[in-house]
Amino acid sequence: MSDFSSGEIPGSITSVKGAGGLKKLRIETSRSCAELYLHGAHLTHFQKNGEAPLLFMSAESEFAPNFPIRGGVPLVFPWFGPREGLASHGFARVMDWTVKESAVLADGSVQLSLSLSPVESYEVELTVTVSDRLSMELAVKNISEHSLVFENCFHTYFHISDIHAISVCGLENVHYLDKLKGQEFLEASSSIHIHEEVDRVYWDTASTVEIKDPGLGRKIRVEKSGGASTVLWNPWIEKAKRMADFGDLEYLKMVCVESGNIGKNSVTLAAGDRVVLKTILSSETLAP
Ligand code: BG6
Repeated sequence: MSDFSSGEIPGSITSVKGAGGLKKLRIETSRSCAELYLHGAHLTHFQKNGEAPLLFMSAESEFAPNFPIRGGVPLVFPWFGPREGLASHGFARVMDWTVKESAVLADGSVQLSLSLSPVESYEVELTVTVSDRLSMELAVKNISEHSLVFENCFHTYFHISDIHAISVCGLENVHYLDKLKGQEFLEASSSIHIHEEVDRVYWDTASTVEIKDPGLGRKIRVEKSGGASTVLWNPWIEKAKRMADFGDLEYLKMVCVESGNIGKNSVTLAAGDRVVLKTILSSETLAP
């Protein structure tokens, strides 16, 4: 166990200078490796030995204070989406986080806890556990004397072989808001194929979502608890071109399957209470 503010553990966690001079932690286990920026407590890399990276990172990403990192796992909190005059997707992803604790667990997993200095009546902590899978827990405590309402989300970008080849399973019969059409629909498909821009919030679903990727010969599993919404997003051609920190053709290589509590699934937290949003990301070989 280490409680040094750097979080370093020889052979398991190393502090290095990342892109833009930002502080990055490299995490190594016998089965995988990962990288996390303290800026936004942002996971930018996770890779199992012998497998392609699980997370997509844009080659055009900014790495600078006040700018979010494009790709990996942005932490969305305490609001999702745009808010007039304020940062899109909240302040957590553009703030500097502090390492609270790090440890190598008995099973060889490496665990890291980070916190944000209390802001707007919230005490916020992220715990990341790296093994042959990646687990993340975002804990929020209300330290005010009145109840608070907020949104949260792991805005995970997955690395895929080709957007035309993948399918997304686990959302059949779930109601969703199509943000592009401004209308609600019921998901009819047990296996969603993406052939155009997609921006949807699926409501009231705790289901595990799977991304089947024949090109990489793998199936990614996105499990969650403490979250009632799942977002499915791919910017496709025109939006990709409009995004300054995203390559024109990078939409082909990513899909976001995001786990959280959004819109009508927002969290109401009584004074003194604490809630945890958890996701577990894993992968296995896709049977032909
Ligand atoms: C998704 C939203 O979660 O994030 C999209 O549903 C949004 O509407 C996308 O475009 C990217 O947001 P940002 O703020 O990182 O550009």
